[in-house]
Parts: sequence; C-alpha cells; structure tokens
Amino acid sequence: MKTILVTGGSGFIGRNLSKRLASADKQILAEKIIVLSRNPKKAAKVLPDSVQIISDLNQLGQPVDILVNLAGAPIADRRWSAKRKATISQSRIQTTQVLYEYFKQAEKPPSIVISGSAIGYYGGGMANNQPVTEDGAVQPNFSSQLCAGWENAAQQFEQLGSRVCYLRTGIVLGEQGALSKLLPPFKLGLGGPIATGQQWMPWIHIDDMVAIIIYVFQNNISGPINCTAPKPVTNKEFAKTLGKVLKRPAIAPMPAPIVKLLFGQMGDELMVQGQSVVPQKLQQQGFEFNYSDLRSALSELLRV
Ligand SMILES: NC(=O)c1ccc[n+]([C@@H]2O[C@H](COP(=O)([O-])OP(=O)(O)OC[C@H]3O[C@@H](n4cnc5c(N)ncnc54)[C@H](OP(=O)(O)O)[C@@H]3O)[C@@H](O)[C@H]2O)c1
Repeated sequence: MKTILVTGGSGFIGRNLSKRLASADKQILAEKIIVLSRNPKKAAKVLPDSVQIISDLNQLGQPVDILVNLAGAPIADRRWSAKRKATISQSRIQTTQVLYEYFKQAEKPPSIVISGSAIGYYGGGMANNQPVTEDGAVQPNFSSQLCAGWENAAQQFEQLGSRVCYLRTGIVLGEQGALSKLLPPFKLGLGGPIATGQQWMPWIHIDDMVAIIIYVFQNNISGPINCTAPKPVTNKEFAKTLGKVLKRPAIAPMPAPIVKLLFGQMGDELMVQGQSVVPQKLQQQGFEFNYSDLRSALSELLRV
C-alpha cells in the first residue's frame, strides 16, 4: 500500500497515469495518489476525484513512497528564444531540485523516484541508423543538455537511498501531445514527411508509457530507461502509416528550410533530427509492450 506523489500530474502522461492508478486495485498499486500542481482547480477538472491535489510540498503532511516527477513547461509548442529555453530548463531542473531539498529534510525519503527525461538526451544524429540504447552518450545540443541536467538533478535522490529511474521518453502517442497536432493537416490530406523523412521518430503508445511507469514501481530497475516502442520508424514511415490509417494521402513534404524558418532551433532539433532509439533495458527485463507496431497503435488510438 503506497502513497504516490506525481508532479506534472495534470499533464498528458500524468493524468493518464493517475486514471490508471485510481482505477486499479489499491492494495496492489497505490493507496493514495497526490498530485502537485501549480493550478489545483484546473488540475481537478482532469483528474479522478480520489486524487488529492496540493499546490505546495508543505501541504503533503505524510511520507511519500514513490515520486513520479513529470513537471515541465512544454518543449515543442513554440520557438526557443533564450527566455523560453530558460523556462523549459528551470521548470524541470529547479523543480526537481526543490523536490530534492524538501525530501532531504523529510523524515523519510521516497523509496522510488521516477523522473522525466526524453530521447532528446541522445541528440540528433540524422545519418545514424545504428540503434541507440541506454548506453548512448549525451550531446552538446540544447535538448540533450536539458535532459542531462534534469537527470543529474534527480540523481541526487540516490544520496537519500532512493532507487532512481529516468524515463528517456519518445514521442508519446495518445489523445494529446504530438499526435493531436499532427492530425489536422493529415486529415485534410496535407500531411507528409518532414525534411528528408530519413530522421528517426521513436514513438510510444500512451498505454505502454503508463504501463512502464507502473512496471518500474514493481520491478527492481534503475537508471535510464528508453521509453520507446521496440520498432522505431523514420519520419517518412510515420507519415506514410498515419496517412494509410486515416485513408488520406500523406505526400505533402515540409522541406527542412521551411521547418527551420518556422520553428528555428526547436524545429531543427526536434523535427528534422532523430535517432533510432530502442528500449533495450525494458526488453532485457522482460517488459511486454502492448503496442510494438505503429500501425496497430495508430489504429487503436484513432479507432479505425
Ligand atoms: N508527451 C511526450 O511525447 C513526451 C516525450 C518526451 C518527454 N516528455 C516529458 O515528460 C513530461 C510529461 O509529459 P506530458 O506530455 O505529460 O507534459 P504536459 O502535458 O505538458 O504536462 C506537464 C505538466 O507540467 C506542469 N508544468 C507546465 N509548465 C510548467 C512550469 N513552467 N513549471 C512547472 N511545471 C509546469 C503542468 O502541471 P500543472 O499546471 O498542474 O502544474 C503540466 O500539466 C514532460 O516534462 C515532458 O517533457 C514528454
């Protein structure tokens, strides 16, 4: 019987996790789910009634067994000005630091800390078709440094005796997130590959993402975990599959110079580049994905 604290719990992944935990057998998964939100009223609208919402760690008033740390300002919603980059970084690294400082003083630290990260950790590497496992190295670009800084902040919990995991997450496919942004042009038949389309687009179905977080609760796994489906696809393959599932043409390309003009560095790092990230650690541990194949994942999500 566990108490779980989720930061960023009102977001896409967090709310799906909270719903799954709230509907599961409390004896097995969670006795209590607490979400830390900057806006409790807004969070309450998207979270199950059984979830307690707090706006300040001092309202906790009880020990936490598992900390799931997902809070952070959106990364891909606009161009990266210097100010935006600072917000993106601080909302993750400083938030994690505040959590660490709080639990350092607390009577009992969480036994498990599951903290966010992303496949951006491995940088771009457009021409690299080699599968990238959790051993992949950090790169000098912004998204890679951001993930490394976020992971380093979470790693401090090891000093408190917590088992710490970093979720190096691919593009999560679900009712929100990237898919909701891609759908309008594809539904109009205006979708297509971005730049050469050769860049990799490691993805994961939201149900598998939630299942991985729960798997980490229950299995002795630590360090970085690539949260991506076992069969990553290139951007071209992604566009083709989405077009097929929607029964729409998906041949309208978006050339790299246009992406760079419209989205700047964000477009370059997140849309034009990408590595073939694979979930080696999860597969070695025996985690079973429900959605390994993009077409089955998209068909389920789009109910076609
Ligand atoms: N979804 C993906 O495809 C994906 C892929 C790779 C990595 N990730 C990472 O996984 C984490 C969760 O993803 P998600 O898709 O669930 O994110 P999301 O929907 O954007 O939710 C993130 C949550 O973080 C909180 N937040 C937003 N701005 C903040 C700020 N300036 N300071 C502190 N907290 C802030 C918000 O909660 P409150 O308003 O309630 O405080 C928000 O609900 C994110 O950090 C993201 O970078 C996601």
